Parts: sequence; C-alpha cells; structure tokens
Amino acid sequence: MLDILIVEDNKEIGTLLCDFLRRENYTVSVVDNGEKALELYEKYLTIVLNETERLTKLTNSLLTLNNLNMKGMVLEKTDFDMNEVIRNTAATFEGICQQKQIMISLILTGETMFVNADMSKIQQVLYNLMDNALKFSHNDSTITIETRSKNGKLFVSVKDEGIGIPKDSLKFIFDRFYKTDLSRGKDKKGTGLGLAIVKDIIQAHGENIDVVSTEGVGTEFIFTLSKPNPM
Ligand SMILES: Nc1ncnc2c1ncn2[C@@H]1O[C@H](COP(=O)(O)OP(=O)(O)OP(=O)(O)O)[C@@H](O)[C@H]1O
Ligand SMILES: [Mg+2]
Repeated sequence: MLDILIVEDNKEIGTLLCDFLRRENYTVSVVDNGEKALELYEKYLTIVLNETERLTKLTNSLLTLNNLNMKGMVLEKTDFDMNEVIRNTAATFEGICQQKQIMISLILTGETMFVNADMSKIQQVLYNLMDNALKFSHNDSTITIETRSKNGKLFVSVKDEGIGIPKDSLKFIFDRFYKTDLSRGKDKKGTGLGLAIVKDIIQAHGENIDVVSTEGVGTEFIFTLSKPNPM
C-alpha cells in the first residue's frame, strides 16, 4: 500500500515511525537517498500526525460519552447567562472563521438571558453544534446563533448555510459513529460522536433538540433550555 523512507540521520524517529506504520498495516521499506527521502519523510509524518489527531479526538469523545453514561449523567445545575456562554463559545472559533471567511452572527434576546442547566455540558453542546456548522459551511458564508424566549423556555438555534444533510440521513445523525456520505469529503477527522454527545446531554436535561436541513442549502439545530425557577 504505502512506502515509507527512513532517513539515515534520524534513526530514532525513523524507527518509531516505522514501528507505528507497521502496526497500522502500512508497508514500510527503508531506504536512504537524500532529498527525495526527506520530502517523503515529511509527507508520511503528516499522515501520522493527522492520524494521531483523529485518534486523540476519538479517544476524547469516547471518554466524554463514557463519563456521561457511567455516572448516569450527574448534572450540576446552576442559573447562568446563556448569552455569555454563546459569546464565549463563538469567540473560540475566531481563528477558523478568519481562515474560512465565515461570519458568526449573534441574534440574542436582551443583554443577559439566564437559564437553569449544567453550564459546562451546555457549553459542550454549543461547541459541538458550532464545530459542525463550521466544518460543513462553505467559505464566505454566515453562521447564525439565535435565541428566542417562549413559554418559559429558551430556544437556541445554530444555523449554517453549508452542505446540508440528505433527507434519508436525518434520522441517523444522532447515532454514534454515523456520518453522511456528503460530509466525508469535507471532513476526514470527525468520528461521528459529536451529535451523540449532544443528544445525551439534552435528553439528560429533559429538553429537546430538533434539526431542519436541506441538502445544498444549509442546516439548523434548535435546542431548548429551561429558565431559572422563580424564587
Ligand atoms: N451542520 C451540519 N451540516 C451538514 N452535515 C452535518 C452537520 N452537522 C452534522 N452533520 C452530519 O452528521 C454527521 C454526524 O455529526 P457528528 O457531530 O456526530 O460527527 P462528526 O462531526 O462527523 O464527528 P465529531 O463530532 O465526532 O468530530 C456528520 O458527520 C455530518 O455528516
Ligand atoms: Mg461533530
């Protein structure tokens, strides 16, 4: 399948790389021929780094799911300002937004909007939804995060103008490890666990999450949160 070239002057890394690739079922052959070897060496190191990143993501997602389920999802609920969580989470995506020329538009109800929920878990929900929205958005597009207050609930919407989800796939997207064929080309590192985590967290809160999507047009996820109990 793949060949790997080991450069003579870096035997230690070369040997490690060789062992790793053989364990991963790559065909490894050792040669030593100057510039060409260095060039290929770099190429295969990149493959290893990407694989490492993918496996790290997978491990972290599996650990998150395991923790959520093992403890029967213990929620540490407090009253917190959801608007602030949205602003802070959006800020963490600034770098990638610049790279892809994507604008995040925030349409928030009022200055503050308090909800009662487990803040770090809701942060994770928002992060996973925004991560998807960015991954599957085209360059030069807009992602809109909007909050609306209705019947004592807060509705949070994360909407993108990306590749969309085929109709037949919609019922599977919250399943563990499921990825649509459409998305595979756009994202090779995803493990298909982000939305399973989102669903577990929302369900543990007794809240709802819905998705509306049109292939080639965009996707919107809307989840609910409860307002704080009046004193
Ligand atoms: N905003 C979106 N636009 C288009 N497709 C989406 C969107 N969000 C999710 N999907 C589809 O649903 C699949 C499952 O999403 P999920 O977040 O669970 O996994 P992932 O993003 O592929 O990997 P991970 O979140 O574990 O890194 C995605 O692979 C993609 O096919
Ligand atoms: Mg995801």
